[in-house]
Amino acid sequence: MTNPDKADLVILGGVLVSPDAEVRASIAIKDGKIHTIGAREAMPAATETLDATGMHVLPGAIDVHVHFRDPGYPHKEDFGSGTAAAAFGGVTTVFDMPNTLPTIADAESLSAKHKIASEKAYVDYGLYAVLGEESLEHIPSLVEGGIIGFKCYMGNTFGRIPSPSTGAMLELFELVAPTGKRISLHAETNSIMERREQRLRAAGRTEPIAHLASRPAVVAVEAVARAAILAEWTGARIHVLHISSAAELRPLAEAKARGVDITGETCPHYLLLSEKDYEKSGGVVRVNPPVRETPNQQPLWNALVDGTVDIVATDHAPHTPEEKTRNDIWTVDCGFPGVETQMPLMLTEINRGRATIRDYVRWSAANPAKLWGLYPRKGTLTVGSDADIAIVDMNRRWTIDDAKIQSHSKISPWQGWQCTALPIHTIVRGNFVMKNRVLNEQARSTGRSVHAIQRMPTPSPKNTDATMAAITAGKKG
Ligand code: DOR
Ligand code: ZN
Repeated sequence: MTNPDKADLVILGGVLVSPDAEVRASIAIKDGKIHTIGAREAMPAATETLDATGMHVLPGAIDVHVHFRDPGYPHKEDFGSGTAAAAFGGVTTVFDMPNTLPTIADAESLSAKHKIASEKAYVDYGLYAVLGEESLEHIPSLVEGGIIGFKCYMGNTFGRIPSPSTGAMLELFELVAPTGKRISLHAETNSIMERREQRLRAAGRTEPIAHLASRPAVVAVEAVARAAILAEWTGARIHVLHISSAAELRPLAEAKARGVDITGETCPHYLLLSEKDYEKSGGVVRVNPPVRETPNQQPLWNALVDGTVDIVATDHAPHTPEEKTRNDIWTVDCGFPGVETQMPLMLTEINRGRATIRDYVRWSAANPAKLWGLYPRKGTLTVGSDADIAIVDMNRRWTIDDAKIQSHSKISPWQGWQCTALPIHTIVRGNFVMKNRVLNEQARSTGRSVHAIQRMPTPSPKNTDATMAAITAGKKG
């Protein structure tokens, strides 16, 4: 006779981490959900038991910013290799960016990417659609087709997606505000950096640090402030991706204080790398926005701790060694992999005392789930939540070796970095996707799109009487 109360998996004796507490407790999982949390003695019988004594049990990370390049650039990455890298990094949900080939700008391209992702993914995922003049007509069908949110490229980067004018952005925000979806912004103002780059190129500058000179922090500061004004006017929800400078924190904090629904993210490379890495790694460190001068680092840490910056994500942006090591910096592809190394790098800093492991869980799991309407289904270890779990050894020495990472992209500025913490097992909805640092090949194609479980709060669009829709309707009447 089968026991209806028998759990599928029991994890015994680890330290469960939430944004508020660290508690030694066991956890039982059944049908992909957390069934019981409590003392070892309170656990039901289970098909499988894992002893997590001495380990930390974290909600799996939700990386809201990855580029898995599928379809279009399989030599850089695909949905299988990208989500395998996520599994090794303790990441149980990823949000994939739309700068693939084709760009995700209409219902057909979105549906094709859904098919690809569902056939290859090891972890759960959300898909972004691009928000630009090319997708303006398609906003309702993209929302209908199942997206986690929109991505707006205020500045050029890989894929050369055209940046909307401020006028087009206003109209796009007016259209998205009533849908309640969050708009994630590549907040760098194109006209400033294009002009700077032209000047530098004309002056014959081709060395790696010239990239930083072409995108001074004001590029991002101006974009954040301008986007915040448009969000305030329209009631659209916005998220500032990859905050790279201390100077961006002021327009972000000011907009939050005015009640704008604005959130912010930074990445390990802005917290840990600096101008010195252009000499050390050359073009490998080229990324948009650029890695900046050392004095930017501590204010970004402080902003994470005080809540001005909400999230840590990676901007996982894989390219090949050939694409990353060209002599002329302007021809080097921008970005490097990160989804697999974020958790070890950040937890190493936690071990150094830069913040608490509770803070880390807030940045990596709880806040991403809350801001994209997935909480408490995801982002927390609570009875009834999806059993998305990273089991971490906070005393494991691990040196990053690009040759051994899962991503197709075997080159990064993290080569040789020494970590003191490592995810050992990763569980998605109750199933191991990575166990004892080995990929569970059987878990391929078990990842699911999270758009269906997304519940954003009720939208509050503003100034609707002044939108293009109201103006054109008035003309007809
Ligand atoms: O450096 C970057 N690379 N920044 C981005 O915003 C995009 C990314 C990519 O897709 O390669
Ligand atoms: Zn990106």
